Amino acid sequence: MEILRTVDALKAAAQAAREAGKTVGFVPTMGALHAGHISLVDRARRENDVVIVSVFVNPTQFNNAEDLRTYPHTEEADCEKLRKAGADYAFIPSVEEIYPEEDTRVFDLGEVAAVMEGAMRPGHFNGVAQIVSRLFEWGQPTRAYFGEKDFQQIAVIRRMVENEGGFNGLEIVPCPIVREEDGLALSSRNVRLTPEDRKAAPFIHKALAKSVEYARDHSVEDTIRFVTEELNANPRLRVEYYSIVNPLTMQPVTSWGDTRDGAQGCATVYCGDVRLIDNIKYN
Ligand code: PAJ
Repeated sequence: MEILRTVDALKAAAQAAREAGKTVGFVPTMGALHAGHISLVDRARRENDVVIVSVFVNPTQFNNAEDLRTYPHTEEADCEKLRKAGADYAFIPSVEEIYPEEDTRVFDLGEVAAVMEGAMRPGHFNGVAQIVSRLFEWGQPTRAYFGEKDFQQIAVIRRMVENEGGFNGLEIVPCPIVREEDGLALSSRNVRLTPEDRKAAPFIHKALAKSVEYARDHSVEDTIRFVTEELNANPRLRVEYYSIVNPLTMQPVTSWGDTRDGAQGCATVYCGDVRLIDNIKYN
């Protein structure tokens, strides 16, 4: 595996692959890699000739300075995992390399970015669009891989890709959430949980899974209340929002029959001081 530190090196590697008629799978990450990230790399490895993984803690998508300051950096361990997973290139640039000047672009991300994480974290999705659009431009991927853990992010990326003209037919590939055995969705932020909070955290997925049963004979509104009350009943958990949305538009559904696309329940829950997100599909 080759480590690329500069934009020029990334462009050259991508250009060489495309000129040789090879497909390029791209996995954008912020590092502190775990089995969730690696599942994306595995999938990219199976489906493409060349695999590029970016590891970059993108400052423009953090709307909380403390979150950015304490975000874990584990470059050596990350590279070891990526080598094992068979990545061809790890793109690990500095902040100056990516943003020699401030990125002032404002993306029109529309309704998909206006709700949930978009409402709670102003500027977050614009920052995601800034970095991912650059990575797509330089890395020229055939396919790019994203986890459904960040369910809304996928809709936002699709919207950005559409706005920017499609990046040469780039395919966005959503991948399922990887969980701990007790159900907690893997996240780089899980390491911040205290031992007691770590015990409470799996309850988030448990409550969501339970609500799928509950939803069979209750309304959307009741189901939202059910999840919120279940979670808030745990003294270590505090629901920031629970929304049940159309999985394509991210707009709230009001009844189960609203859309043919089904419905997705999206939760943000504070576990102690750590903000965790998870989601679940209702059929
Ligand atoms: P990061 O949080 O590092 O996540 C990188 C990718 O891994 C995302 O697509 C995310 O959804 C996926 N992922 C994280 N945890 C997962 C899990 N438990 N199961 C499956 N996939 C999981 O998302 C970002 O970085 C950034 O916003 C980024 C897109 C890299 C732009 O900076």
